[in-house]
Amino acid sequence: MELSKEIKRRRTFAIISHPDAGKTTLTEKLLLLGGAIKVAGAVKNNKIKKTATSDFLEIEKQRGISVATSVMTINYRDCVINILDTPGHKDFAEDTYRTLTAVDSVILVVDSVKGVEEQTRKLMEVCRMRATPVMIFVNKMDRVGKDAFDLIEELEEELKITACPFTWPIGSGDRFKGVFNLTDESVTLYQSEKTSLAESHYKTQSLKDDVLEEFIGGKNLKNLIEDRELALELFDDFDTSLYREGYLAPVFFGSALNNFGVPELLETFVDIAPPPTFAKTLERDVYPDEKKFSGYVFKIHANIDPKHRNRMAFLRVCSGRFERNKLYYHTRLNKNLRFSAPATFLANAKSTIDEAYPGDVIGLFDTGNLKIGDTISEGEKLHITGIPSFSPEILKEAINKDPAKSKQLEKGLSQLVEEGLAQLFVQQPGNRKIIGTVGELQYEVIVYRLAHEYNATCEFQQLSYQKACWLSADDPKKIDELIKTRPNHIAYDKTNTPVFMVENEWVLKVVKESHPDVQFNETSEVSNTAQAAQSEF
Ligand code: G4P
Repeated sequence: MELSKEIKRRRTFAIISHPDAGKTTLTEKLLLLGGAIKVAGAVKNNKIKKTATSDFLEIEKQRGISVATSVMTINYRDCVINILDTPGHKDFAEDTYRTLTAVDSVILVVDSVKGVEEQTRKLMEVCRMRATPVMIFVNKMDRVGKDAFDLIEELEEELKITACPFTWPIGSGDRFKGVFNLTDESVTLYQSEKTSLAESHYKTQSLKDDVLEEFIGGKNLKNLIEDRELALELFDDFDTSLYREGYLAPVFFGSALNNFGVPELLETFVDIAPPPTFAKTLERDVYPDEKKFSGYVFKIHANIDPKHRNRMAFLRVCSGRFERNKLYYHTRLNKNLRFSAPATFLANAKSTIDEAYPGDVIGLFDTGNLKIGDTISEGEKLHITGIPSFSPEILKEAINKDPAKSKQLEKGLSQLVEEGLAQLFVQQPGNRKIIGTVGELQYEVIVYRLAHEYNATCEFQQLSYQKACWLSADDPKKIDELIKTRPNHIAYDKTNTPVFMVENEWVLKVVKESHPDVQFNETSEVSNTAQAAQSEF
Protein backbone atom coordinates (compact mmCIF):
# COMPACT_ATOMS: atom_id res chain seq x y z
CA MET A 1 0.00 0.00 0.00
CA GLU A 2 1.12 3.53 -0.69
CA LEU A 3 2.84 5.40 2.14
CA SER A 4 0.15 8.10 2.26
CA LYS A 5 -2.62 5.50 2.64
CA GLU A 6 -0.76 3.74 5.41
CA ILE A 7 -0.30 7.03 7.27
CA LYS A 8 -3.95 7.97 6.90
CA ARG A 9 -5.15 4.74 8.49
CA ARG A 10 -2.82 4.88 11.52
CA ARG A 11 -4.09 5.98 14.95
CA THR A 12 -1.53 5.95 17.73
CA PHE A 13 -2.81 6.81 21.16
CA ALA A 14 -2.61 6.13 24.89
CA ILE A 15 -5.30 5.58 27.48
CA ILE A 16 -4.54 7.57 30.60
CA SER A 17 -6.22 7.82 33.97
CA HIS A 18 -5.78 8.08 37.68
CA PRO A 19 -5.21 4.53 39.00
CA ASP A 20 -8.43 2.54 39.35
CA ALA A 21 -10.54 4.71 37.07
CA GLY A 22 -10.77 1.85 34.57
CA LYS A 23 -7.87 2.19 32.11
CA THR A 24 -7.08 -1.53 32.08
CA THR A 25 -10.73 -2.51 31.72
CA LEU A 26 -11.25 -0.08 28.85
CA THR A 27 -8.05 -1.25 27.12
CA GLU A 28 -9.30 -4.81 27.30
CA LYS A 29 -12.66 -3.93 25.87
CA LEU A 30 -10.99 -2.14 22.96
CA LEU A 31 -8.77 -5.17 22.34
CA LEU A 32 -11.84 -7.40 22.40
CA LEU A 33 -13.67 -5.14 19.95
CA GLY A 34 -10.58 -5.12 17.71
CA GLY A 35 -10.45 -8.91 17.85
CA ALA A 36 -6.92 -8.85 19.28
CA ILE A 37 -7.89 -10.91 22.32
CA LYS A 38 -10.69 -13.39 22.77
CA VAL A 39 -11.19 -13.28 26.53
CA ALA A 40 -10.89 -10.58 29.14
CA GLY A 41 -7.97 -10.80 31.53
CA ALA A 42 -5.01 -10.69 29.15
CA VAL A 43 -4.07 -7.14 30.02
CA LYS A 44 -5.02 -7.30 33.66
CA ASN A 45 -2.22 -9.74 34.38
CA ASN A 46 0.22 -7.04 33.51
CA LYS A 47 -1.22 -4.43 35.77
CA ILE A 48 1.03 -2.97 38.40
CA LYS A 49 -1.12 -2.78 41.50
CA LYS A 50 -0.92 0.39 43.50
CA THR A 51 -0.70 -1.46 46.77
CA ALA A 52 2.58 -3.21 47.37
CA THR A 53 6.09 -3.34 46.05
CA SER A 54 5.94 -7.09 46.11
CA ASP A 55 3.25 -6.97 43.45
CA PHE A 56 5.49 -4.85 41.34
CA LEU A 57 8.48 -7.11 41.82
CA GLU A 58 6.33 -10.08 40.96
CA ILE A 59 5.45 -8.29 37.78
CA GLU A 60 9.11 -7.52 37.19
CA LYS A 61 9.76 -11.22 37.11
CA GLN A 62 7.36 -11.47 34.26
CA ARG A 63 8.96 -8.71 32.27
CA GLY A 64 8.30 -10.59 29.06
CA ILE A 65 4.58 -9.99 29.50
CA SER A 66 4.95 -6.35 30.27
CA VAL A 67 7.13 -5.79 27.20
CA ALA A 68 4.47 -7.37 25.03
CA THR A 69 1.73 -5.17 26.42
CA SER A 70 3.70 -1.93 26.22
CA VAL A 71 2.17 -1.43 22.82
CA MET A 72 -0.84 -3.20 21.43
CA THR A 73 -2.01 -3.05 17.86
CA ILE A 74 -5.55 -3.69 16.71
CA ASN A 75 -7.16 -3.48 13.33
CA TYR A 76 -10.57 -1.86 13.38
CA ARG A 77 -12.53 -0.93 10.27
CA ASP A 78 -9.75 0.05 7.89
CA CYS A 79 -7.54 1.48 10.63
CA VAL A 80 -4.39 0.25 12.31
CA ILE A 81 -4.70 1.34 15.92
CA ASN A 82 -1.63 1.39 18.13
CA ILE A 83 -2.45 1.58 21.84
CA LEU A 84 0.54 2.57 23.95
CA ASP A 85 0.33 1.33 27.51
CA THR A 86 1.31 3.62 30.34
CA PRO A 87 2.08 2.46 33.85
CA GLY A 88 -0.78 3.27 36.16
CA HIS A 89 1.39 3.68 39.25
CA LYS A 90 2.21 7.30 39.96
CA ASP A 91 5.82 6.50 40.85
CA PHE A 92 6.32 5.65 37.20
CA ALA A 93 4.81 8.90 35.98
CA GLU A 94 8.02 9.85 34.19
CA ASP A 95 7.66 6.80 31.95
CA THR A 96 4.07 7.80 31.23
CA TYR A 97 5.08 11.36 30.33
CA ARG A 98 7.66 10.05 27.88
CA THR A 99 5.18 7.67 26.32
CA LEU A 100 2.83 10.60 25.82
CA THR A 101 5.43 12.16 23.51
CA ALA A 102 4.97 9.20 21.18
CA VAL A 103 1.19 9.37 20.74
CA ASP A 104 -1.00 11.46 18.47
CA SER A 105 -3.96 11.56 20.84
CA VAL A 106 -5.20 10.23 24.18
CA ILE A 107 -8.34 8.85 25.73
CA LEU A 108 -8.66 10.02 29.30
CA VAL A 109 -10.70 7.81 31.63
CA VAL A 110 -12.43 9.53 34.55
CA ASP A 111 -14.26 7.73 37.35
CA SER A 112 -17.81 9.13 37.49
CA VAL A 113 -17.88 8.80 41.26
CA LYS A 114 -14.50 10.39 41.99
CA GLY A 115 -14.32 12.90 39.15
CA VAL A 116 -10.99 14.55 38.40
CA GLU A 117 -8.19 13.11 40.56
CA GLU A 118 -4.55 14.04 41.14
CA GLN A 119 -3.02 11.97 38.36
CA THR A 120 -5.75 13.03 35.94
CA ARG A 121 -4.71 16.62 36.48
CA LYS A 122 -0.98 15.95 36.05
CA LEU A 123 -1.43 13.87 32.94
CA MET A 124 -3.61 16.53 31.39
CA GLU A 125 -0.90 19.12 32.06
CA VAL A 126 1.46 17.08 29.89
CA CYS A 127 -1.19 16.74 27.19
CA ARG A 128 -1.79 20.48 27.29
CA MET A 129 1.94 21.21 26.99
CA ARG A 130 1.97 19.24 23.76
CA ALA A 131 -1.55 20.24 22.60
CA THR A 132 -2.43 16.53 22.39
CA PRO A 133 -6.04 15.90 21.32
CA VAL A 134 -8.05 14.38 24.17
CA MET A 135 -11.25 12.32 24.28
CA ILE A 136 -12.80 11.76 27.71
CA PHE A 137 -14.57 8.59 28.81
CA VAL A 138 -16.55 9.02 32.03
CA ASN A 139 -16.53 5.49 33.41
CA LYS A 140 -18.46 3.53 36.05
CA MET A 141 -21.86 5.00 35.24
CA ASP A 142 -23.33 1.85 36.79
CA ARG A 143 -22.38 3.40 40.14
CA VAL A 144 -24.05 6.39 41.73
CA GLY A 145 -21.75 9.16 40.57
CA LYS A 146 -21.67 12.91 40.35
CA ASP A 147 -24.32 14.84 38.48
CA ALA A 148 -23.37 14.98 34.80
CA PHE A 149 -23.53 18.80 34.55
CA ASP A 150 -21.38 19.16 37.68
CA LEU A 151 -18.92 16.64 36.32
CA ILE A 152 -18.59 18.42 32.99
CA GLU A 153 -18.02 21.69 34.84
CA GLU A 154 -15.35 20.01 36.96
CA LEU A 155 -13.65 18.59 33.85
CA GLU A 156 -13.57 21.98 32.22
CA GLU A 157 -12.32 23.84 35.26
CA GLU A 158 -9.78 21.35 36.53
CA LEU A 159 -8.47 20.15 33.19
CA LYS A 160 -8.66 23.55 31.51
CA ILE A 161 -10.28 22.19 28.40
CA THR A 162 -13.64 22.78 26.74
CA ALA A 163 -15.83 19.70 27.06
CA CYS A 164 -18.13 18.65 24.27
CA PRO A 165 -20.44 15.82 25.36
CA PHE A 166 -21.29 13.37 22.59
CA THR A 167 -23.54 11.31 24.86
CA TRP A 168 -25.62 12.21 27.89
CA PRO A 169 -26.33 9.78 30.76
CA ILE A 170 -29.83 8.76 31.78
CA GLY A 171 -29.67 8.16 35.55
CA SER A 172 -26.76 6.52 37.31
CA GLY A 173 -25.99 3.63 39.62
CA ASP A 174 -28.82 1.11 39.92
CA ARG A 175 -30.97 3.53 37.98
CA PHE A 176 -28.57 3.96 35.09
CA LYS A 177 -30.70 3.44 32.01
CA GLY A 178 -28.42 4.33 29.15
CA VAL A 179 -27.21 7.31 27.20
CA PHE A 180 -28.75 9.83 24.87
CA ASN A 181 -26.57 10.36 21.81
CA LEU A 182 -26.48 14.10 21.34
CA THR A 183 -25.09 13.75 17.83
CA ASP A 184 -27.95 11.75 16.29
CA GLU A 185 -30.65 12.09 18.97
CA SER A 186 -30.86 8.34 19.49
CA VAL A 187 -30.89 6.56 22.85
CA THR A 188 -28.74 3.54 23.67
CA LEU A 189 -30.38 1.55 26.43
CA TYR A 190 -28.23 -0.07 29.05
CA GLN A 191 -28.18 -3.62 30.27
CA SER A 192 -25.42 -4.83 32.48
CA GLU A 193 -22.96 -6.86 30.51
CA LYS A 194 -23.90 -10.45 30.84
CA THR A 195 -24.57 -11.07 27.18
CA SER A 196 -22.28 -10.90 24.16
CA LEU A 197 -20.81 -7.59 23.04
CA ALA A 198 -23.17 -7.13 20.13
CA GLU A 199 -26.43 -8.07 21.78
CA SER A 200 -26.40 -6.20 25.03
CA HIS A 201 -27.67 -2.78 24.04
CA TYR A 202 -30.81 -1.59 22.34
CA LYS A 203 -30.84 1.64 20.38
CA THR A 204 -33.93 3.78 19.84
CA GLN A 205 -34.07 6.20 16.95
CA SER A 206 -35.41 9.19 18.87
CA LEU A 207 -36.91 10.34 22.16
CA LYS A 208 -40.34 9.49 20.72
CA ASP A 209 -39.67 5.75 20.52
CA ASP A 210 -42.46 3.86 22.32
CA VAL A 211 -40.07 1.47 24.01
CA LEU A 212 -38.20 4.35 25.58
CA GLU A 213 -40.70 5.47 28.22
CA GLU A 214 -41.41 1.87 29.10
CA PHE A 215 -37.74 1.18 29.59
CA ILE A 216 -36.46 4.30 31.35
CA GLY A 217 -39.67 5.43 33.05
CA GLY A 218 -41.65 8.65 32.76
CA LYS A 219 -39.59 10.60 35.29
CA ASN A 220 -36.30 9.78 33.60
CA LEU A 221 -37.76 10.70 30.23
CA LYS A 222 -38.90 14.06 31.57
CA ASN A 223 -35.44 14.70 33.07
CA LEU A 224 -33.79 13.64 29.84
CA ILE A 225 -35.87 16.07 27.79
CA GLU A 226 -34.85 18.89 30.16
CA ASP A 227 -31.21 17.82 30.21
CA ARG A 228 -31.13 17.68 26.44
CA GLU A 229 -32.48 21.25 26.18
CA LEU A 230 -29.93 22.52 28.66
CA ALA A 231 -27.04 20.57 27.11
CA LEU A 232 -27.82 21.88 23.63
CA GLU A 233 -27.87 25.38 25.05
CA LEU A 234 -24.71 25.06 27.15
CA PHE A 235 -22.31 23.17 24.93
CA ASP A 236 -20.82 24.24 21.63
CA ASP A 237 -21.11 22.07 18.53
CA PHE A 238 -18.24 19.72 17.96
CA ASP A 239 -15.42 21.10 15.84
CA THR A 240 -12.81 18.58 14.63
CA SER A 241 -10.05 21.15 14.26
CA LEU A 242 -10.53 22.47 17.80
CA TYR A 243 -10.34 18.87 19.06
CA ARG A 244 -7.21 18.18 17.04
CA GLU A 245 -5.59 21.36 18.35
CA GLY A 246 -6.21 20.16 21.90
CA TYR A 247 -8.86 22.73 22.90
CA LEU A 248 -12.03 20.68 22.75
CA ALA A 249 -12.57 17.25 24.29
CA PRO A 250 -15.45 15.01 23.21
CA VAL A 251 -16.99 13.38 26.30
CA PHE A 252 -18.63 9.94 26.47
CA PHE A 253 -20.42 8.37 29.41
CA GLY A 254 -20.37 4.63 29.93
CA SER A 255 -19.23 1.62 31.85
CA ALA A 256 -16.10 -0.14 30.60
CA LEU A 257 -16.80 -3.13 32.82
CA ASN A 258 -20.19 -3.59 31.18
CA ASN A 259 -18.88 -2.67 27.75
CA PHE A 260 -21.39 0.14 27.68
CA GLY A 261 -20.42 3.17 25.62
CA VAL A 262 -17.18 1.55 24.47
CA PRO A 263 -18.17 0.66 20.87
CA GLU A 264 -19.47 4.23 20.36
CA LEU A 265 -16.23 5.60 21.78
CA LEU A 266 -14.14 3.47 19.43
CA GLU A 267 -16.26 4.36 16.39
CA THR A 268 -15.92 8.08 17.07
CA PHE A 269 -12.24 7.67 17.87
CA VAL A 270 -11.59 6.09 14.46
CA ASP A 271 -13.59 8.87 12.78
CA ILE A 272 -11.97 11.87 14.43
CA ALA A 273 -8.64 10.95 16.05
CA PRO A 274 -5.71 12.33 14.09
CA PRO A 275 -3.35 10.19 12.03
CA PRO A 276 0.40 10.77 12.66
CA THR A 277 1.49 14.38 12.46
CA PHE A 278 4.92 15.97 12.10
CA ALA A 279 7.72 15.50 14.63
CA LYS A 280 9.89 18.34 15.84
CA THR A 281 13.66 17.94 15.65
CA LEU A 282 16.40 20.45 16.41
CA GLU A 283 17.11 20.71 12.72
CA ARG A 284 13.60 20.87 11.19
CA ASP A 285 10.05 19.51 11.32
CA VAL A 286 9.83 15.97 9.97
CA TYR A 287 6.61 15.02 8.14
CA PRO A 288 5.23 11.46 8.06
CA ASP A 289 4.86 11.41 4.27
CA GLU A 290 8.54 12.13 3.63
CA LYS A 291 10.05 9.31 1.61
CA LYS A 292 12.96 8.68 3.92
CA PHE A 293 12.53 6.84 7.17
CA SER A 294 13.14 8.46 10.56
CA GLY A 295 12.12 7.54 14.09
CA TYR A 296 13.12 7.98 17.71
CA VAL A 297 13.44 5.94 20.87
CA PHE A 298 11.06 6.95 23.66
CA LYS A 299 11.29 3.97 25.99
CA ILE A 300 13.80 1.29 26.89
CA HIS A 301 12.90 -1.96 28.56
CA ALA A 302 16.07 -3.52 29.90
CA ASN A 303 17.00 -7.06 30.78
CA ILE A 304 13.94 -8.76 29.43
CA ASP A 305 15.87 -11.90 30.06
CA PRO A 306 18.47 -11.15 32.78
CA LYS A 307 20.59 -14.09 31.62
CA HIS A 308 21.14 -12.48 28.25
CA ARG A 309 21.28 -8.83 29.26
CA ASN A 310 19.24 -7.80 26.27
CA ARG A 311 17.13 -4.72 26.11
CA MET A 312 14.29 -3.62 23.98
CA ALA A 313 14.14 -0.07 22.70
CA PHE A 314 10.74 1.21 21.61
CA LEU A 315 10.98 3.34 18.53
CA ARG A 316 8.21 5.44 17.08
CA VAL A 317 8.36 5.78 13.33
CA CYS A 318 8.09 9.46 12.33
CA SER A 319 8.46 9.39 8.57
CA GLY A 320 8.88 7.07 5.60
CA ARG A 321 8.90 3.31 5.68
CA PHE A 322 11.02 1.35 8.15
CA GLU A 323 12.48 -1.84 6.67
CA ARG A 324 14.03 -4.76 8.46
CA ASN A 325 17.76 -5.35 7.85
CA LYS A 326 18.32 -2.00 6.18
CA LEU A 327 21.23 0.13 7.41
CA TYR A 328 20.04 3.20 9.30
CA TYR A 329 21.95 6.16 10.65
CA HIS A 330 22.20 6.68 14.41
CA THR A 331 22.79 10.39 14.93
CA ARG A 332 24.23 10.37 18.46
CA LEU A 333 26.72 7.60 17.73
CA ASN A 334 27.36 8.85 14.20
CA LYS A 335 27.25 5.33 12.84
CA ASN A 336 25.02 3.01 10.87
CA LEU A 337 23.05 0.21 12.51
CA ARG A 338 21.06 -2.68 11.13
CA PHE A 339 18.02 -4.12 12.91
CA SER A 340 17.49 -7.73 12.01
CA ALA A 341 14.65 -8.66 14.34
CA PRO A 342 12.36 -5.65 14.85
CA ALA A 343 9.29 -6.68 16.79
CA THR A 344 5.70 -5.68 16.56
CA PHE A 345 3.01 -6.51 19.06
CA LEU A 346 -0.45 -7.91 18.93
CA ALA A 347 -1.90 -7.91 22.43
CA ASN A 348 0.20 -10.46 24.27
CA ALA A 349 2.00 -11.89 21.26
CA LYS A 350 5.17 -10.48 19.79
CA SER A 351 6.34 -11.13 16.25
CA THR A 352 9.07 -10.00 13.90
CA ILE A 353 8.07 -7.50 11.26
CA ASP A 354 9.55 -6.56 7.91
CA GLU A 355 8.28 -3.02 7.69
CA ALA A 356 6.59 -0.31 9.71
CA TYR A 357 4.97 3.03 8.95
CA PRO A 358 4.65 6.44 10.64
CA GLY A 359 2.77 6.13 13.90
CA ASP A 360 3.88 2.53 14.40
CA VAL A 361 5.94 1.57 17.40
CA ILE A 362 8.52 -1.13 16.94
CA GLY A 363 10.63 -2.96 19.47
CA LEU A 364 14.33 -3.08 18.64
CA PHE A 365 16.55 -5.58 20.41
CA ASP A 366 19.55 -3.67 21.62
CA THR A 367 22.85 -4.42 23.25
CA GLY A 368 23.50 -0.93 24.56
CA ASN A 369 23.55 1.30 21.45
CA LEU A 370 20.22 2.95 22.04
CA LYS A 371 19.13 5.54 24.59
CA ILE A 372 15.89 7.37 25.19
CA GLY A 373 15.74 10.33 22.81
CA ASP A 374 18.00 8.78 20.13
CA THR A 375 17.02 9.52 16.56
CA ILE A 376 17.50 7.01 13.75
CA SER A 377 17.22 8.06 10.11
CA GLU A 378 18.16 7.35 6.55
CA GLY A 379 21.43 9.23 6.70
CA GLU A 380 20.23 12.62 7.95
CA LYS A 381 21.51 14.12 11.18
CA LEU A 382 18.33 14.66 13.20
CA HIS A 383 17.79 15.23 16.92
CA ILE A 384 14.25 14.72 18.12
CA THR A 385 13.06 17.31 20.62
CA GLY A 386 10.22 17.31 23.09
CA ILE A 387 11.11 14.29 25.20
CA PRO A 388 11.25 15.98 28.56
CA SER A 389 13.00 15.12 31.79
CA PHE A 390 11.03 16.36 34.74
CA SER A 391 12.55 17.58 37.97
CA PRO A 392 12.60 14.67 40.41
CA GLU A 393 10.63 15.02 43.62
CA ILE A 394 12.89 12.86 45.75
CA LEU A 395 16.69 12.96 45.68
CA LYS A 396 18.86 10.38 47.43
CA GLU A 397 22.53 9.57 47.40
CA ALA A 398 23.49 6.07 46.25
CA ILE A 399 25.90 4.49 48.76
CA ASN A 400 27.86 1.46 47.64
CA LYS A 401 27.65 -1.26 50.31
CA ASP A 402 30.19 -3.58 48.72
CA PRO A 403 33.39 -1.78 47.64
CA ALA A 404 34.51 -4.89 45.69
CA LYS A 405 31.48 -4.43 43.41
CA SER A 406 31.77 -0.75 42.60
CA LYS A 407 32.13 -1.42 38.84
CA GLN A 408 28.92 -3.47 38.85
CA LEU A 409 27.12 -0.73 40.74
CA GLU A 410 28.33 1.93 38.34
CA LYS A 411 27.22 -0.11 35.34
CA GLY A 412 23.89 -1.05 36.89
CA LEU A 413 23.05 2.52 37.85
CA SER A 414 23.98 3.89 34.47
CA GLN A 415 21.92 1.27 32.64
CA LEU A 416 18.87 1.75 34.84
CA VAL A 417 19.16 5.48 34.29
CA GLU A 418 19.37 4.98 30.52
CA GLU A 419 16.26 2.90 30.77
CA GLY A 420 14.59 5.97 32.27
CA LEU A 421 13.79 4.38 35.63
CA ALA A 422 15.39 7.29 37.49
CA GLN A 423 17.67 10.25 36.91
CA LEU A 424 21.32 10.41 37.87
CA PHE A 425 23.14 13.54 38.95
CA VAL A 426 26.80 13.62 39.87
CA GLN A 427 28.07 16.08 42.43
CA GLN A 428 31.67 17.05 43.14
CA PRO A 429 33.82 16.74 45.13
CA GLY A 430 33.66 13.05 45.82
CA ASN A 431 31.80 11.97 42.69
CA ARG A 432 28.58 11.69 44.72
CA LYS A 433 25.89 9.87 42.79
CA ILE A 434 22.46 11.34 43.41
CA ILE A 435 19.46 9.44 42.16
CA GLY A 436 16.30 11.43 41.53
CA THR A 437 12.86 9.89 41.21
CA VAL A 438 9.21 10.80 41.52
CA GLY A 439 8.37 8.03 43.96
CA GLU A 440 9.82 5.89 46.76
CA LEU A 441 8.90 2.72 44.92
CA GLN A 442 11.56 3.38 42.32
CA TYR A 443 14.34 3.14 44.95
CA GLU A 444 13.06 -0.25 46.02
CA VAL A 445 12.99 -1.38 42.43
CA ILE A 446 16.52 -0.07 41.82
CA VAL A 447 17.89 -1.86 44.90
CA TYR A 448 16.14 -5.06 43.85
CA ARG A 449 17.29 -4.91 40.26
CA LEU A 450 20.88 -3.94 41.16
CA ALA A 451 21.06 -7.01 43.37
CA HIS A 452 19.37 -9.41 40.96
CA GLU A 453 20.68 -8.23 37.63
CA TYR A 454 24.06 -6.65 38.45
CA ASN A 455 25.10 -8.37 41.63
CA ALA A 456 25.61 -4.99 43.32
CA THR A 457 24.50 -3.83 46.75
CA CYS A 458 23.43 -0.29 47.27
CA GLU A 459 21.68 1.78 49.89
CA PHE A 460 19.98 5.12 49.45
CA GLN A 461 20.47 8.01 51.81
CA GLN A 462 17.90 10.79 51.86
CA LEU A 463 19.25 14.23 50.93
CA SER A 464 17.77 17.55 51.91
CA TYR A 465 17.09 18.54 48.30
CA GLN A 466 13.51 18.87 47.11
CA LYS A 467 14.06 19.19 43.41
CA ALA A 468 16.63 19.80 40.70
CA CYS A 469 16.43 22.68 38.24
CA TRP A 470 18.14 22.79 34.88
CA LEU A 471 19.85 26.10 34.25
CA SER A 472 19.62 28.20 31.14
CA ALA A 473 20.67 31.74 30.25
CA ASP A 474 21.15 33.79 27.10
CA ASP A 475 24.71 34.41 28.19
CA PRO A 476 26.42 31.16 29.35
CA LYS A 477 28.78 33.24 31.54
CA LYS A 478 25.85 33.95 33.85
CA ILE A 479 25.53 30.22 34.55
CA ASP A 480 29.29 29.99 35.23
CA GLU A 481 28.96 32.83 37.75
CA LEU A 482 26.17 31.01 39.55
CA ILE A 483 28.19 27.78 39.61
CA LYS A 484 31.10 29.66 41.18
CA THR A 485 29.03 31.31 43.87
CA ARG A 486 26.95 28.23 44.77
CA PRO A 487 29.22 25.22 44.08
CA ASN A 488 27.59 23.12 46.79
CA HIS A 489 24.25 23.30 45.06
CA ILE A 490 25.47 22.23 41.65
CA ALA A 491 25.37 18.74 40.19
CA TYR A 492 25.59 17.47 36.60
CA ASP A 493 23.03 15.36 34.77
CA LYS A 494 23.79 12.48 32.40
CA THR A 495 24.64 14.82 29.55
CA ASN A 496 26.92 16.83 31.85
CA THR A 497 24.48 19.71 31.96
CA PRO A 498 24.60 21.65 35.25
CA VAL A 499 21.57 21.49 37.51
CA PHE A 500 20.80 23.46 40.64
CA MET A 501 19.83 21.31 43.62
CA VAL A 502 17.03 23.03 45.51
CA GLU A 503 16.67 22.60 49.28
CA ASN A 504 13.54 24.68 49.56
CA GLU A 505 11.56 27.34 47.77
CA TRP A 506 13.03 30.07 49.95
CA VAL A 507 16.62 29.28 48.89
CA LEU A 508 15.48 29.13 45.28
CA LYS A 509 13.83 32.53 45.58
CA VAL A 510 16.98 34.10 47.04
CA VAL A 511 19.22 32.59 44.35
CA LYS A 512 16.85 33.65 41.60
CA GLU A 513 16.94 37.21 42.92
CA SER A 514 20.72 37.29 43.00
CA HIS A 515 20.99 35.73 39.52
CA PRO A 516 18.16 37.34 37.57
CA ASP A 517 19.61 36.39 34.17
CA VAL A 518 19.55 32.68 34.87
CA GLN A 519 16.42 30.58 34.34
CA PHE A 520 15.71 27.67 36.66
CA ASN A 521 13.78 25.07 34.66
CA GLU A 522 11.85 22.17 36.11
CA THR A 523 11.90 20.29 32.83
CA SER A 524 14.88 19.67 30.66
CA GLU A 525 14.97 19.94 26.94
CA VAL A 526 18.42 21.36 27.24
CA SER A 527 19.97 17.91 27.30
CA ASN A 528 18.95 17.43 23.67
CA THR A 529 20.99 20.44 22.72
CA ALA A 530 23.88 19.07 24.75
CA GLN A 531 23.53 15.74 22.92
CA ALA A 532 23.53 17.54 19.61
CA ALA A 533 26.70 19.35 20.56
CA GLN A 534 28.31 16.10 21.67
CA SER A 535 27.40 14.30 18.46
CA GLU A 536 29.12 17.00 16.43
CA PHE A 537 32.44 15.49 17.47
P1 G4P B 1 -6.97 1.11 36.16
O1 G4P B 1 -6.36 0.28 35.08
O2 G4P B 1 -7.35 2.49 35.71
O3 G4P B 1 -6.22 1.13 37.44
O4 G4P B 1 -8.41 0.46 36.52
P2 G4P B 1 -9.01 -0.98 36.24
O5 G4P B 1 -9.44 -1.12 34.84
O6 G4P B 1 -8.11 -2.05 36.79
O7 G4P B 1 -10.31 -0.86 37.12
C1 G4P B 1 -10.26 -0.63 38.52
C2 G4P B 1 -11.44 -1.28 39.19
O8 G4P B 1 -12.64 -0.68 38.69
C3 G4P B 1 -11.56 -2.77 38.89
O9 G4P B 1 -12.12 -3.39 40.01
C4 G4P B 1 -12.55 -2.81 37.74
O10 G4P B 1 -13.24 -4.03 37.63
C5 G4P B 1 -13.48 -1.69 38.16
N1 G4P B 1 -14.21 -1.11 37.00
C6 G4P B 1 -13.75 -0.78 35.78
N2 G4P B 1 -14.73 -0.30 35.01
C7 G4P B 1 -15.85 -0.32 35.76
C8 G4P B 1 -17.21 0.05 35.52
O11 G4P B 1 -17.59 0.49 34.46
N3 G4P B 1 -18.07 -0.11 36.57
C9 G4P B 1 -17.69 -0.60 37.78
N4 G4P B 1 -18.61 -0.72 38.71
N5 G4P B 1 -16.43 -0.97 38.04
C10 G4P B 1 -15.52 -0.83 37.04
P3 G4P B 1 -11.24 -4.19 41.05
O12 G4P B 1 -12.19 -4.73 42.05
O13 G4P B 1 -10.13 -3.32 41.53
O14 G4P B 1 -10.58 -5.30 40.17
P4 G4P B 1 -11.21 -6.65 39.68
O15 G4P B 1 -11.24 -7.51 40.91
O16 G4P B 1 -12.56 -6.36 39.14
O17 G4P B 1 -10.26 -7.13 38.65
